[in-house]
Order: sequence, then C-alpha cells, then structure tokens
Amino acid sequence: MNDSVENTKLWGGRFTRSTDKLVEQFNASIDVDKRLYDADIEGSIAHLKMMANEGIIPKEEAGTLIEGLGKVKRQIENHEMEFTPGLEDIHMHVEDALTKVSGDVAKKLHTGRSRNDQVALDVRIYLKKETLLILELLSGFQKVLVKMARKHLDVIMPGYTHLQRAQPILFSHYLMAYYEMLCRDIQRFEDCLKRIDVMPLGAAALAGTTYPLNREFTRQVLSFSSVSQNSIDSVSDRDFVMEFISHASICMIHLSRLSEELILWSSAEFSFITISDAFTTGSSIMPQKKNPDVAELVRGKTGRVVGNLMSILMLMKSLPLAYNKDMQEDKEPLFDTVDTLKICLEVYTRMFENIKIHKDRMLAACSQGFLNATDLADYLVAKGMPFRQAHAVAGKAVAYALENQKELDDLSLEEFKTLSDLIGKDVYDAIAIHTMISKRISYGGTSFDNVTRAVEKAEKNLGLK
Ligand code: ARG
Repeated sequence: MNDSVENTKLWGGRFTRSTDKLVEQFNASIDVDKRLYDADIEGSIAHLKMMANEGIIPKEEAGTLIEGLGKVKRQIENHEMEFTPGLEDIHMHVEDALTKVSGDVAKKLHTGRSRNDQVALDVRIYLKKETLLILELLSGFQKVLVKMARKHLDVIMPGYTHLQRAQPILFSHYLMAYYEMLCRDIQRFEDCLKRIDVMPLGAAALAGTTYPLNREFTRQVLSFSSVSQNSIDSVSDRDFVMEFISHASICMIHLSRLSEELILWSSAEFSFITISDAFTTGSSIMPQKKNPDVAELVRGKTGRVVGNLMSILMLMKSLPLAYNKDMQEDKEPLFDTVDTLKICLEVYTRMFENIKIHKDRMLAACSQGFLNATDLADYLVAKGMPFRQAHAVAGKAVAYALENQKELDDLSLEEFKTLSDLIGKDVYDAIAIHTMISKRISYGGTSFDNVTRAVEKAEKNLGLK
C-alpha cells in the first residue's frame, strides 16, 4: 500500500517505502527522551563551536545555527514544539525544528556526528547534573540527621538484634549509623561521577569520523573531565548507567530499611516516634487511623528502583558491540531511578525535620527484657570470672528473674549472692542503663563521649560548625 510513498525521514534517502505507522510508534522514544532536549542542544552548540573553530563549517553558519538552537530551546520551554512519533527521538526533533528556524544550513549540524555518539553524550550531560543534585540531596538529608542527633544526644533507646531488645544504645548513635550509610552512598555516587564525566562525542557511529574533529575542544566547551578513548566503546558503553542505578538501588535500600523502622516505631506497640500530620494520611473507613504512607511508599518504591537495575542489566547482557537499538530502552529505568531517588530523599529530609521523639517510651522500653544481662556478665569478668562462665551465671540470673517476674535490677543482693558470691552491691550501678551506655567506650561504640565526638566530626564535615 505504501510502495509508492517516498520516505521523508531524516534518514529516508535509501528507503523506497515509508515506515509502517505501528512501527513508527514502536520505534519512537520521544515521549521518554524529550527530557534530554537541554543536553541535546548544549551538545549541538558545542559541536558547532568546535566545527567552526576547526574550519569544518564557516563561522557565520555556526553562528546562525547556534542562534537557531537557542530559539528551538525556547520553543520547547514554551511548549510550542509538537512532539510526534514520526520524528522518533529528541535528536531528530531538535534538528527538524532547527531546519524550520534556520533553513537549509541546519543540514550541516549533523556533520561528523551520529545519533549514537549524540545520545551517549546527552545521557552523560544529563546524568552528570542529576548526580550532582543527588549528592546535594544526600548531604542535605545527612544534615537533618546530624542536627537531630545533636538535639537528642542523650536519648536512650533499646538497640535490637533479630528485632529483639538487645542492649541500650543512644538514639543519636542510631541516627549516626544512617549518617554513615549515606556517607558511603555519597562516596559511591562521587566515584561513579568520574566515569559519567567522560565526553564521547566524535566517536560518530562507532568508528570515528573522517572530519578533523577536535574532541578536546568539545570536551572543554562542555566542561567534561576527559574524552573517551575508543570510539567503539564510546557508543556502546552504558556501564555508567548500570553503576548509577546500582548505587541508587543501594541508597534506596538504606531508605527502605529506615522506612521499616519508622513504620514500626510509629505503631501503638512501639510509640517511639510520632510522624507529623503533614507526612501521614488517614483512612477512608477507619476515622482513628493515621498511616505512615510516606515511609511505606519509600519502602515500596525501592522495589521499583531495584527493578530498574534488573532492567538495565538484562538489557545490556548480550549486546554485541557497538550501538544496538536495544539501548534506547536504557532511558526509562534511568529516568525513573533519578526521579524516584530524588523525591524520596527530598520527602525524607522534610519528614525528618517533623518527627517527634518520645524519649520516655524509648527509655521505658530499655528497662524490660534484661538488656543489662551482658553487663552483668562483664561485671563478673571484671571481678575475675572467665567470660563463658560469667555468661552462664548471667543466664541463670535471667532465668531466675523471669521465674520470679522481676528484672535483673530488682534482685536483692542476697538473691544475687546465691548466683555468685563475686557479686557485691556495686552490681546495681554496673547494670544501670546510664552505666551501660557510658561504658561502651570501644571505638565506634555508643558511649556518650564517642557519639558526641562522632556528631562533632559530622558537623564539621557537613559545614554545620
Ligand atoms: N533514540 C536513540 C536512543 O535512544 C538514539 C540513537 C539512535 N541511533 C540509531 N542508530 N538509531 O538510543
């Protein structure tokens, strides 16, 4: 049916039939990659400047095109551009619009360039900016955590293993654990940034080009740190996308673990915290409900991001070098990951500023469940008993207390003496909650001094002091 219709595409020269409409839709990525318009135009301007500088195209023509690209950018920003699947992707939309704005001279823009190196460049420009934003959001969230740690420096809560009460810890020590996790997230993104920050333009389709391009010039115009070394690798490398989504997944998993705790702690059973009304929602049937939806959604969205990681890994796993159209599918998981991570970090930063801490409840939870059993054993060790034996005695003390519905601190000295005559009346101080905290002096432990030092160090690191 289409046999006689000429193919009018930018690449239509060798085609005698026009593209099937369904294929046109199937092939198009414009709905997704239109967000790269800014990067695409920035890359094209740099390419034109370089070509003019090297005498590949006349300076006046480059000037006309750069001006034209400015107009195209404004068109897009004013929502005046019509996006159509017929023009496939953002690269062709920009070029087509430029032709309308600047005339036939626009046909020189794509000299010495392919969409293969162009798209690699665009994604790198985009991701470099986004990674820098994410780094800022991460340190912004750290600031909130550290300020909260400073404010609640002395608040004591039960620490858990296996979600069973284990030993008392400082709430500030717990917050600083998340600070550390976020430090590693920052390190990972910073490291990944080195590999994002590489300029691929000039690789053309895959083999380089016959024009005397000055890739170093383009790199400088675009403020990249280095140029890519191998033209084949330049157009087929998506390691930086895989790395980015992998780091984002780990970061989301951190946020998801935090979510789980916020959800538990805000339950009636724990009542350690209250999340502000502004960050919770009600139920349409149960009037009393106040649900921690934000925390639940952050936990839920973690699944999406980890799914995106699977998508990009599976997408790349069998691709022969160099560019394959499969790679067009890299953008949805990447963009979704960027959007999701950013909003989760933003919403958590704001939510944390609005969390109320119930320190009495936290402290009360420490006084039940024999959290001082280890300290009783350590007390006996200090009196000369080997640790294994001390562990057994403390275990017997717990069994005895349980039977008599008491806590260890409720036992009388006589009762203690029946367990070991090494025990004296100084035992009560040794197993008191405050003593337990202040004695945890091993480097990185929960003692007041340690945590105060950790908070101070973080405050300096974040420029809070
Ligand atoms: N829309 C394409 C992508 O996102 C651009 C590169 C197309 N290259 C090609 N040879 N068809 O990957």
